Amino acid sequence: MRYWNGLRFDNIDAVEANASQASILVVDDDPKTLQALQELLQGLAPNIVLANSGEAALRCVLKQDFAVILMDARMPGADGFATARLIREHPRSRYTPIIFVTGAYEDLRSMVRGYEAGAVDYVLKPVVPEFLTSKVSVFIDLYFKNEVLTREIAERKRAEEGLKTSQENLRALAARLQSVREEEWKRMSREIHDELGQALTGLKMDLTWVAHRLPPNQKALAQRTKSMLGLIDDTVQSVRKIATRLRPEVLDELGLAAAIGWQARDFQMRTGIRCKISLPADPPVLDQERSTAAFRIFQELLTNVARHANATRVDVVMQADADRLMLVVEDNGKGIAAEEAVFSPKSLGLMGMRERMLPFGGNVEIKGRPGKGTRVTVSVPFGLK
Ligand SMILES: Nc1ncnc2c1ncn2[C@@H]1O[C@H](COP(=O)(O)OP(=O)(O)O)[C@@H](O)[C@H]1O
Ligand SMILES: [Mg+2]
Repeated sequence: MRYWNGLRFDNIDAVEANASQASILVVDDDPKTLQALQELLQGLAPNIVLANSGEAALRCVLKQDFAVILMDARMPGADGFATARLIREHPRSRYTPIIFVTGAYEDLRSMVRGYEAGAVDYVLKPVVPEFLTSKVSVFIDLYFKNEVLTREIAERKRAEEGLKTSQENLRALAARLQSVREEEWKRMSREIHDELGQALTGLKMDLTWVAHRLPPNQKALAQRTKSMLGLIDDTVQSVRKIATRLRPEVLDELGLAAAIGWQARDFQMRTGIRCKISLPADPPVLDQERSTAAFRIFQELLTNVARHANATRVDVVMQADADRLMLVVEDNGKGIAAEEAVFSPKSLGLMGMRERMLPFGGNVEIKGRPGKGTRVTVSVPFGLK
């Protein structure tokens, strides 16, 4: 089994399965040479096929694969060179190594012809047995290595496809979870706003009614109802805030540009970081999925500025061209580090932004300049109308 030499141990199984398939084709018009070569090569491969003419050799290569072909150069009919050329023309045998066996009287020109016809090597007659067997076993070795590689490539391809499918599934799942969550927030926001809001309004009306009917001498009661009314007003404010935080009404009612303007003002008020915003005069109308995605990305970007940037100002520019909306958010903080901006698995917020844009064919580009700030460009195609 010396043709297994040099193979990695973990591939031995793969090789074993194929050992029975290695074949050598010997082409020669002289029956005695054929027989001698067959005996010589027997130990190298289990299957030695003999052909006594170029035509017979062609029939063989159409039927099966060979690890190597030994080809007599001089034959009546199609000679070795013509046969080699035809063998090369078939896809199945395009890369099968061909070793020419020629008489010592052959000159350099016929050697060149042989190489042109696709030969990979030469042996001279009379054949030196050790010389021939060592050459042939090199090619059989290569044949096995090739088999193993082909198999490994196929396996890798299968694994890659599996990974791709599971990545696509995960993406679809994440997108679905995202939209379910968004729907849920929207519903909760409406319920909190409408139901709690109405109850509080009713409560306030009743309490006002009571306050107006208090006898003038009940100062303590009047004081108490007044503070209760104040408390109700505060609660109305909190309910509004909670509902808005879940899902700003302005996004559904006035659209993305208005929601971004509102969010920027709110951000400035809460953080004291100056937020300058430039919106197009006639902002494009995006569908609900796209505006939600862009708005959530914008919120996340502002949160990042507040949390990480150490900035004193943010510039927000929204622009639209014929087929897409661009949102640029630039801060003057410390500048995001390159390893975080570029697909770090730890940057889940940034990864989430990119993932949010994928279904629309959009993207999020992040650039940091150390000490100067961070610039994020979100681009959302409008999609087919
Ligand atoms: N505007 C910014 N300026 C400086 N660094 C930033 C900025 N935005 C993000 N980063 C850096 O990138 C990292 C990843 O951000 P992100 O994925 O949103 O995760 P998280 O905000 O949860 O830390 C942050 O931890 C921070 O170090
Ligand atoms: Mg973040």
